Amino acid sequence: MHTNSYSEVTPEILKLSQLCEETATINPALYSEYDVKRGLRDVNGKGVLVGLTQIADVCSTRIENGVAVPADGNLYYRGYNVKDIVKGIDDSSHFGFEESTYLLLFGKLPTKPQLDEFTELLSYYRTLPTSFVRDIIMKAPSKDMMNTLARSVLTLYSYDDAADDISLPNVLRQCLQLISLFPLLSVYGYQAYKHYHDGASLFIHSPKPEYSTAENILHILRPDSKFSALEAKLLDTALILHMEHGGGNNSTFTTHLVSSSGTDTYSVIAASLGSLKGPKHGGANIKVVQMFEDMKANLKDWTDEEEVSRYLRALLNKEAFDHAGLIYGMGHAVYSLSDPRAVIFHSFVERLSKEKGKDKEFALYTLVERLAPKIIADERKIYKGVSPNVDFYSGFAYSMLNLPLELYTPIFAIARISGWSAHRLEELSYSGKIMRPAYKFVDEHKEYIPISQR
Ligand SMILES: CC(C)(COP(=O)(O)OP(=O)(O)OC[C@H]1O[C@@H](n2cnc3c(N)ncnc32)[C@H](O)[C@@H]1OP(=O)(O)O)[C@@H](O)C(=O)NCCC(=O)NCCS
Repeated sequence: MHTNSYSEVTPEILKLSQLCEETATINPALYSEYDVKRGLRDVNGKGVLVGLTQIADVCSTRIENGVAVPADGNLYYRGYNVKDIVKGIDDSSHFGFEESTYLLLFGKLPTKPQLDEFTELLSYYRTLPTSFVRDIIMKAPSKDMMNTLARSVLTLYSYDDAADDISLPNVLRQCLQLISLFPLLSVYGYQAYKHYHDGASLFIHSPKPEYSTAENILHILRPDSKFSALEAKLLDTALILHMEHGGGNNSTFTTHLVSSSGTDTYSVIAASLGSLKGPKHGGANIKVVQMFEDMKANLKDWTDEEEVSRYLRALLNKEAFDHAGLIYGMGHAVYSLSDPRAVIFHSFVERLSKEKGKDKEFALYTLVERLAPKIIADERKIYKGVSPNVDFYSGFAYSMLNLPLELYTPIFAIARISGWSAHRLEELSYSGKIMRPAYKFVDEHKEYIPISQR
């Protein structure tokens, strides 16, 4: 071993990884020969049906003459359109994260007394075990808050006397605790990182029981704890929009998959966090903001359609930004003409951009929203249409809320833990069968050769 540093890829490792590449010789044609659904989707992009759920419905088509055709997207939580949920919250004084969590977990809209009692329960659970911040979060802080979250979740296992009990009441108790604690684990993890890595002053504000989840996030994050009503409302809306997206999205499917093995709640949620962290899933909103920063730095005139189009084509041709060939924030595995979450975000972001004097930036987002679908359709094979997804505006919204980039994906996790919890409870209630798909072996069986004869 000649390793100089822990993360160095040495020439030995490079040589071994070449071996991996040399042996990875599966002929792409075999995928169609054996009808393998790559990405668990058919050739038209439709997901393989692997389960039944009553939690959410993701709709992207309507039936015309008996045939499904692309339509504006709609998302339903327990049968209620998320557009109506957001509108209902906007018209009233209460916060939506708590109400929607109740709805996702228990299948019914809460009455006022039920919601008050439930909010109180979440506040009660919003307390970390004694010394957890000092002994766990402050130790070896990670630069990635999703990593911090996952480690904290796994560590909470050892504080739980009934960690492996997967009876419904116990799992519900664990889920409610995690839903309550995610904001603390994420934000305190960030404060620890800023302190130890960047020398920033360390702020650990205790959550306030009378605050909603959204208000508490802003309260514990900001050194002066101050925030406006519109800021809290926008963050609350962002949480509602990110809470749930059916059973097939990568991290929720992970929840089902890992739950099906009968393992404990902490292991399941840590696995789901690992999935959400990926840039093709929850990590995309950071990419959107970074892509726009690059765009703004490279464009002479943000309103020049020709120049913006040229930049977008350069993105697709891997000549700009991260050279990945993607216009981040565009496209979705299920939605086609529109993602309802992006549509809702659009109007909220428009309001906040006026309050924050970011109209010029908002105009650039709107221009990209208009130009990008056509440009992607020109350059790629599109069968169902491409439109802005939830991440297109969420990053911009978070930047206007002065949320640090490091917390963008954790905010997604703070919301999505409610959906994961509902799906874990559903998997435990209805399935009981371990998931075990098949992989076809496509190489030869070989005779073992003694080491002296190789
Ligand atoms: C989300 C995403 C992975 C869905 O991809 P998908 O399920 O293959 O979607 P579609 O079937 O509509 O895509 C058809 C083609 O257009 C491409 N495409 C779709 N959106 C694209 C985008 N924003 N930029 C570049 N190409 C895109 C796909 O890669 C695919 O090309 P391929 O057949 O050569 O692989 C894809 O749209 C994407 O990578 N978007 C950018 C990242 C992002 O914003 N992710 C957050 C999702 S909420």
